[in-house]
Amino acid sequence: MTDGTANETRDSGAASEDGSAIEGLESDLARELEQQSEIESFDPPEQFKAAAIWSDPSVYEEAERDPLAWWECQAEALDWAQRWETVLDDSNPPFYKWFLGGRLNASYNCLDRHVEAGRGDRVAYHWRGEGGEERDVTYAELHCDVQKLANVLKDRGISAGDVVGIYLPMIPEVVVAMLACARIGAPHNVVFGGFSPESVKERMEFSEAKALITVNRARRKGKAAPIKEPIDDLIGDVPSVETIIVIRNTDDDAPMTEGRDIWYHEAIASVDDECPAEPLDAEHPLFILYTSGSTAKPKGILHTTGGYLTGAAYTTKHVFDVKPDSDTYWCAADVGWVTGHSYIVYGPLLNGLTSVMWEGGPDYPSKDIWWEIAERYKATILYTAPTAIRAFMKWGADLPGKHDLSSLRLLGSVGEPINPKAWLWYRKVIGGERCPIVDTWWQTETGHIMISPLPGITSTKPGSAMRPLPGIAAEVVDERDGKPIEEGQGLLVLTRPWPGMLRTLYREEERFKETYFERFGSETYLVGDAARLDKDGDFWVIGRIDDVINVSGHRMSTAEIESAIVSHPRVAEAAAIGQNDEDTGQAVCAFVTLEGATSDGGDELMTEIREHVGTRIGKFARPKRLVWAADLPKTRSGKIMRRLLRDIAEGREVGDVTTLRDPDVMKDLEQKFGGEEA
Ligand code: WT7
Repeated sequence: MTDGTANETRDSGAASEDGSAIEGLESDLARELEQQSEIESFDPPEQFKAAAIWSDPSVYEEAERDPLAWWECQAEALDWAQRWETVLDDSNPPFYKWFLGGRLNASYNCLDRHVEAGRGDRVAYHWRGEGGEERDVTYAELHCDVQKLANVLKDRGISAGDVVGIYLPMIPEVVVAMLACARIGAPHNVVFGGFSPESVKERMEFSEAKALITVNRARRKGKAAPIKEPIDDLIGDVPSVETIIVIRNTDDDAPMTEGRDIWYHEAIASVDDECPAEPLDAEHPLFILYTSGSTAKPKGILHTTGGYLTGAAYTTKHVFDVKPDSDTYWCAADVGWVTGHSYIVYGPLLNGLTSVMWEGGPDYPSKDIWWEIAERYKATILYTAPTAIRAFMKWGADLPGKHDLSSLRLLGSVGEPINPKAWLWYRKVIGGERCPIVDTWWQTETGHIMISPLPGITSTKPGSAMRPLPGIAAEVVDERDGKPIEEGQGLLVLTRPWPGMLRTLYREEERFKETYFERFGSETYLVGDAARLDKDGDFWVIGRIDDVINVSGHRMSTAEIESAIVSHPRVAEAAAIGQNDEDTGQAVCAFVTLEGATSDGGDELMTEIREHVGTRIGKFARPKRLVWAADLPKTRSGKIMRRLLRDIAEGREVGDVTTLRDPDVMKDLEQKFGGEEA
């Protein structure tokens, strides 16, 4: 087989044989795959393979022979203040503990050891601001700022175990803030900048955060949105927040509350720049990251130090085949999501990489800004989401074509299933047919990449995340009896603990057990995704099986959106569903009934309700479609049948309606929805 060229076609195994569609799985991808009985695969290009860290598939067998020894070996890539005594304590599943007795510090591993080894002058981030500003931040500079901010936090009475909230745009200070917390053992709780201040408040409340680090204003598409004022309006209700540290991100002023608020630049100007990293227990909490589950209350995913860092370092190194001396790596996500935690901050810094950090989005100031940046910094690795790739496809190949992208040698995808068409476009137009593509499947909960090609080893099939990484065990099981399926569709599970796994849901131990470890027992982690195994044993992740929807890689729960809609005074009831969308993967479609109304409240009210969701959760959660309904389809016990609403929204024949209290409701809705479509 030749260099990076398509192999013989083979059966993708993606077609559904049994027709036992797991509810809600009629994704575009599933359909596209069903139509494609033959799909090509691509071998690693010879040149890539020759230089790859791993090019021999024996790593899989080696890991399988002794998984614990394998993980020990990966943990050795970190610098431990004290070596562990026990690799894995599995005496109380599902509460697993890793590297027990070991002590280390995340910020020491990300910064000090590189500086001590004489690599302090290496650029950690080529930062590019929305207005074209450039800042090269070195490891030594980060090291210095992190120590100062850690001292500021200490001066404000923050110590190991205290939660610190972070609500920042994509500026280098977000990294400083996270690592300053890690340095003193204060778990950080980062809230994505796209979330509303209300969501910030809620997350600070749930975690009883003692401090919050934020900005006066955030730049977005040429404007500077006030952040501190709206935060002030709400944070007074969260008594645990005793300190707010404000970064002066624009020249504007901000209201400051005496005794509580301090300016970052003033605070670090007058503080000692030495703050030794505290060696912490391997199981010391490193961060909490709230993510959506099946109910309206977000889940506080808790990650600890030793295992998480081991997984982040290992996967960054081998999935992206990183060469710190020559690579310029760019993960174009936001630090506010887990992708940013693991693949903008911890993974790259642990590996001593030089990264690109871009403040803005993909379309401002121009639709080729990414390609300009990739060319400018000679990015060698690009990691992004299918939704971005689909947008670029729409904007046309001419835009990337205007730039020299020949520095790129590896491309990654994450966040949702990538449709083969987008995969092939990415490979051809962005990767010049010379870059392997790694489609990486993982979750906030898993901490790091779990299923992915290894770029120097795997022959990749467009649309498949291929195989669990060495050390990881995944299966597809029958949804009825939990028995492993050799070929076909079922539920994705992880059957062996891994170092980076979440340890619990913050302050919700029962929910942790129920959500992930009830269905198939305490030793089988229920992912919440459906997947298909093809005849070669390769994994095709299809989508969520719960009430979680994925809009442009943003994870949301329908319950969360419904609860935001219902909090509008005019709304009586709401039902939100995920609808297939060619741009965003899925889009939110919500049906509402109004308080005391027998007719539509008019476009104005619908707009108001949409904006209301924006204020409650964040702009990205606003329903793309909001449909007024006189009534919603309910069972006799009053449960809303979302399955039927999904049928309507997808234009499918409506399923069984015999259990409905009032079958006529469906007729009205079908008519109504048909009308909306027109
Ligand atoms: C859910 C996790 C992984 C970091 C960003 C999202 C979906 C993620 C893939 C992929 C198919 C994917 C899954 C998963 N997902 N990556 N490569 N192929 N689906 O993290 O917000 O925790 O969402 O995203 O449904 O369960 P998250």
